[in-house]
Amino acid sequence: MAYELIEVRTEGGKVGVITLNRPKQLNALNDALMDELGAALKAFDADEAIGCMVLTGSEKAFAAGADIGAMASYSFADVYKGDYITRNWEAIRAIRKPVIAAVSGFALGGGCELAMMCDFIIAADNAKFGQPEIKLGIIPGAGGTQRLPRAVGKAKAMDLTLTGRMMDAAEAERAGLVSRVVPVDKLMDEALGAALMISDYSRVSVMAAKESINRAFESGLADGVMFERRLFHALFATEDQKEGMDAFVNKRKARFRHQ
Ligand code: HXC
Repeated sequence: MAYELIEVRTEGGKVGVITLNRPKQLNALNDALMDELGAALKAFDADEAIGCMVLTGSEKAFAAGADIGAMASYSFADVYKGDYITRNWEAIRAIRKPVIAAVSGFALGGGCELAMMCDFIIAADNAKFGQPEIKLGIIPGAGGTQRLPRAVGKAKAMDLTLTGRMMDAAEAERAGLVSRVVPVDKLMDEALGAALMISDYSRVSVMAAKESINRAFESGLADGVMFERRLFHALFATEDQKEGMDAFVNKRKARFRHQ
């Protein structure tokens, strides 16, 4: 598929890199862009060579939200019947390999929600996060009211969502929304370094770890622990478990074959 609103490349033959590319609109997210993003993520997910993905934007904006111009004239019937705006956001949730968000500049509204749909966020020190939908007479529509409180707790989620204020990278790191903050010129090195590292681990165990952590948000503790235990036991059926443990015992580097 030829992409117009995103750029797609690989790093080291094993990391898929997707760059949102509507710079004049600060990467405002419209249906066409989200269709392209979904297709690119699915293609990398299906690619045997790829172990991890990085999703990023420009230095000024990861994404400044859903495209307000495109939404402005919709009626309730339009958005409800057509499931507009939100319809094609679900693709990212079905991706089974890890997706790292590398966020520089604005991650607002749907941009913040998109970053939160990724598995973790590495932020540049100029990053700004917020859910400013309240200023437009709406609320977040792609999981913001659900994922933000899970990430930062009720107090800060309410504060951000009800006031529409932005939080900077330092506050986002303190609150637990982002896993690391790095100088803006080091952002891609940091994200690609993490992605390359993840790609070298056993793909089966990486995917199982992602699946199990995501389960924590969908189940009670006992069920979640049981889910984890079953996956943990299952990994002893892989060649990669034998390889990883043999490498440790024999003081050599493991070479996982993703089997
Ligand atoms: C469409 C957008 C946009 C958006 C910016 N632009 N954000 N266009 N949708 N979300 C456009 C501007 O109109 C402008 O176009 C160009 O990008 C540059 O933006 P400026 O405002 O001139 O830049 P600046 O002064 O630096 O301000 C940056 C900003 C501001 C603070 C990020 O643009 C802003 O507040 N944007 C809206 C943020 C927002 O409300 N997001 C939530 C959207 S609702 P021109 O043509 O004038 O140069 C949402 C719902 C999610 O996301 C639902 C998910 C399903």
